[in-house]
Amino acid sequence: MKALTATTLNDMVRTPTFVRITAFVLLSLSVFFLFNRFTATSPSLVFSSLPRPLYKTESSPPPRPPPPSPPLTATTSSLSPPPPPSPPPPYPPPPKVDMMIRMGIVDETGAMSLEFEVGDIDESWMEEEEKSRGGREEKEEKEESGARVKVGKYKVCEKSMGEYIPCIDNVEEIRRLNLSASVERFERHCPQQGKGLDCVVPRPEGYQVKIPWPKSRDEVWLSNVPHTGLVEDKDSKKWILIKKDKFIFQGGGRANRHLNQISKMVPDIAFGQRTRVTLDIGCGVADFGAFLMQRNVATLSIAPKDVHKNQIQFALERGVPAMVATFATHRLLYPSQAFDFIHCLGCRVNWTLDDGMLLLEANRMLRAGGYFIWAAEPVYKREKNLREQWAEMEDLTSRICWELVKKEAYIAIWRKPLNNSCYLNRDSGMQPRVCDSNDDPDNVWYDLLHSLSSLWLRDITYKYALQCMTCDACH
Ligand SMILES: *[C@@H]1O[C@H](CO)[C@@H](O)[C@H](O)[C@H]1NC(C)=O
Ligand SMILES: *[C@@H]1O[C@H](CO)[C@@H](O)[C@H](O)[C@H]1NC(C)=O
Ligand SMILES: *[C@@H]1O[C@H](CO)[C@@H](O)[C@H](O)[C@H]1NC(C)=O
Repeated sequence: MKALTATTLNDMVRTPTFVRITAFVLLSLSVFFLFNRFTATSPSLVFSSLPRPLYKTESSPPPRPPPPSPPLTATTSSLSPPPPPSPPPPYPPPPKVDMMIRMGIVDETGAMSLEFEVGDIDESWMEEEEKSRGGREEKEEKEESGARVKVGKYKVCEKSMGEYIPCIDNVEEIRRLNLSASVERFERHCPQQGKGLDCVVPRPEGYQVKIPWPKSRDEVWLSNVPHTGLVEDKDSKKWILIKKDKFIFQGGGRANRHLNQISKMVPDIAFGQRTRVTLDIGCGVADFGAFLMQRNVATLSIAPKDVHKNQIQFALERGVPAMVATFATHRLLYPSQAFDFIHCLGCRVNWTLDDGMLLLEANRMLRAGGYFIWAAEPVYKREKNLREQWAEMEDLTSRICWELVKKEAYIAIWRKPLNNSCYLNRDSGMQPRVCDSNDDPDNVWYDLLHSLSSLWLRDITYKYALQCMTCDACH
């Protein structure tokens, strides 16, 4: 198809690159218009044609195209004017939002600055890139036009590597560090230089085009997340089940009741208004994030890749932002003050461990004035060891100046202070200590959570209370 276009245009333009670009642009345009017309005239097809294997959609013409629509190959060479603008799609348009689109860089005061320069590409870097490609299997193809193109090709990895994450599944390194018994094995251990993955991770067998949002919130293809561990797990099997070729999620009622309970307890949380960006720890199949989306809140769901190795895959397949991450010995890869609230529903993090090292990490990521929502057994159960855990939590949170805003049923909600006044009024010697430090709370890559954790006043006049994990000059 490319050759056909190339020969018709070769008379007009001589450079082969130009020809290729033009052919690509024409192809893109015609595919765009074809697709536009296709969705506008038969929107039901988008749903009814599912499941579609990925490979087929690319080469075969759409099922039941409108009569005059020519096959893909013919449209490439036609220079006819574009078809008339298609009527608007039958879906209701999204609500109008005043959008502010700006581009800039954040300067040292934290403000967006428009003063920056875009540099040139470093020639030596380009050469390095070229060289580093040399190691791969390379194929030279001779085009009809006589131009030679080099195509580097990766092998496909073994099937069992369908969910391989290089920095998480680095078995070699985890064995070398003898971490098999510790929670550290779920943290990042990236491959050393030269030991990186050298193949393409395959998609699961029978993978189908993802079910579109919002339907994906309630069902995903079984073949796309081919694990049944969660369905067999006694805690989660009430909320997820298998029906024919799909997983069905039915935790919506429960998630909404939980969200209503939170708003009732602390109306100031105001989903979608005061609360816009949140973190959900140990997210299960991410019902919480999925249903907060309806309330105009963007939630990042995190979970370790552990026994339920598939939970993040479920969240992503449903269309909910999610990442593999663990509270263990290193900072999480999010900046300080990133979240309006942090939510832990039975998330199995021991917040009081090592004098609250992990809660201090939550505190780092929590916005000043933000909330910490803890739904867990120690909040409402009366067994002796659970009462002790609650007492430890109460003690720790008061030492880091969090205010217990409300405790009701199975939920406790704390608030991080808006300013430094509480930190300043603490008894000297109280743990964790308040200190001066040059430690940067936004320095997260491979930064250890030190056992000498501390709150930190970066600058008394600074608008927000900041906190760090290390300190050299504590008082
Ligand atoms: C690995 O750790 C276990 C316990 O954590 C310990 O008993 C064992 O001796 C360690 N092995 C090595 C080679 O360090
Ligand atoms: C969490 O850690 C603290 C301090 O080490 C300990 O007292 C408590 O029992 C632990 N809680 C759980 C649930 O393991
Ligand atoms: C500091 O924040 C607290 C709430 O966290 C508030 O009650 C107090 O008035 C604030 N103080 C100042 C000086 O802004």
